[in-house]
Amino acid sequence: MTHFEGRDFVSIDHFTTDEILYLLDGAKKYKEMGKGAAGTLREKLGDRSVALAFFEDSTRTRLSSERAAEILDAHVFGFAGPEGTSLKKNESIHHTLEMLWQYGAEAIVMRNNWDGAAQYAADRFEIPIINAGDGKHEHPTQTVLDLFTIKETQGRLDNLKIAMVGDLKYGRTVHSLIKAMRRWEGNTFYLVNPPQLQMPSEYTTSQDGNERGDVFTGLSLENVLNICDIVYVTRVQKERIEDERERKEVLGKLQINPPLLEQAKPKKNMKLLHPLPIDADNPEIEKSVYRTNPQQAYFFQQAGNGIYARMMILLSVFGLEGKDFSGKAYKTPERSDKNSFIELPISASAGKSDEERMIYSLHNGTVIDHIPDDRGYMLAQALQLDRLPVPTILARGLSTKRNEMGRKSLIKMVNRALTPEELNTIGIICPDSTVSIIIEGKVSQKYKVQLPDVVAGLLQCQNIGCVSNNPREDAPSRFYTLARSPAALLSCHYCDTLHAFNKGNIKLQPR
Ligand code: CP
Repeated sequence: MTHFEGRDFVSIDHFTTDEILYLLDGAKKYKEMGKGAAGTLREKLGDRSVALAFFEDSTRTRLSSERAAEILDAHVFGFAGPEGTSLKKNESIHHTLEMLWQYGAEAIVMRNNWDGAAQYAADRFEIPIINAGDGKHEHPTQTVLDLFTIKETQGRLDNLKIAMVGDLKYGRTVHSLIKAMRRWEGNTFYLVNPPQLQMPSEYTTSQDGNERGDVFTGLSLENVLNICDIVYVTRVQKERIEDERERKEVLGKLQINPPLLEQAKPKKNMKLLHPLPIDADNPEIEKSVYRTNPQQAYFFQQAGNGIYARMMILLSVFGLEGKDFSGKAYKTPERSDKNSFIELPISASAGKSDEERMIYSLHNGTVIDHIPDDRGYMLAQALQLDRLPVPTILARGLSTKRNEMGRKSLIKMVNRALTPEELNTIGIICPDSTVSIIIEGKVSQKYKVQLPDVVAGLLQCQNIGCVSNNPREDAPSRFYTLARSPAALLSCHYCDTLHAFNKGNIKLQPR
């Protein structure tokens, strides 16, 4: 088994800097081989089958993947858009991919309009899934060719000033690119976008929720054109903007054109990159720029580099590259879905004062105490107290010795301990509350719940475009805990959307 063999290519986050540099070196090697590469590499993948599953339109990603596979002599089959497939009959992503696998696909290059669709596929199939763009989430193979192009034109990947222009909300290429470029020191990102198309906070804030120091927002094109090394322009993804008024408001708002470039006096080696396509009806780079500013307009060469990047990726996941890799390897983080608990001391006077008698007066059962009062009703609903087959009490507005809390709520359940899912619910909604187990009138155990690393099947991802919200699929929700206290912060397994409970944007999955 060679280093990359069998790996999925779902997110740029799943590759270390060493691994990315290795892929870039390989792409460079194939570019330098030039047209001769076809002869030398023939039969490299001669007995392998690559399926192209393009649920969404594509010119570059599909054709360069197809061409790369052909140069390597692989068998290529698949579909280009839903037209002519049973997707038109409401077939699911899962069933469609299953067919490609049944028909012999040994790797699937897939593009889909749902965020996290590639991860969903990777969870289901043993063969490598190569993400060719999933909704507004990521486009990691584009990032390999973008990094290749940046290195090719600037001679380095660090200490660069990079403007990202246009649709930074729905543009998946910039999402993968900013995550990748952050790995190298000294890079600064200048974001220029209509106010409605801001880059989501997943990409501009750190895990503690603070703005990252390497991002400058709210800028105009005039502010950035003369200071940046790379100006990476993106098309407004109008197909992802449902509201027609919003679509009209943002189309054609930003344009790079010859007079602007003339006035800005960009750096000598500034390169204008664009993942393409450019919207010819509302061009974000005016159509003559490639002719008037050939020194700067590098987007066609950038797209051309896609062949070499994708050859290298295919060869790597099929194990034909990677034998000589010796850098730092990516390791999937070890995560547990088991709750852990912080045992709390039980004082000798527990249950003896009037207040404690009121709290703990149960023969057998469970008490959840120190619930912030504004979360009491929510927790009762989330635990579905009204449906439990045992007597339960929700008491609200109670006084507490914890001054910082204000009033508190309390839940009591007779003859019942909590399930792991219920403990997770507490860990999310009120992580500082305490759980006491009462046996024969005495507090036998008291603890705080620690949210597990993985929270599965409990929350609903608030990104409506997340594949876990696709009613045609079977993608159970799954979140990773990034922070536990003072508020739970979780990220979606499929689409990386951050859910900070203190911002009130967590919803429990409908049950
Ligand atoms: N860059 C890119 O993804 O282009 P296509 O949509 O044409 O594949």
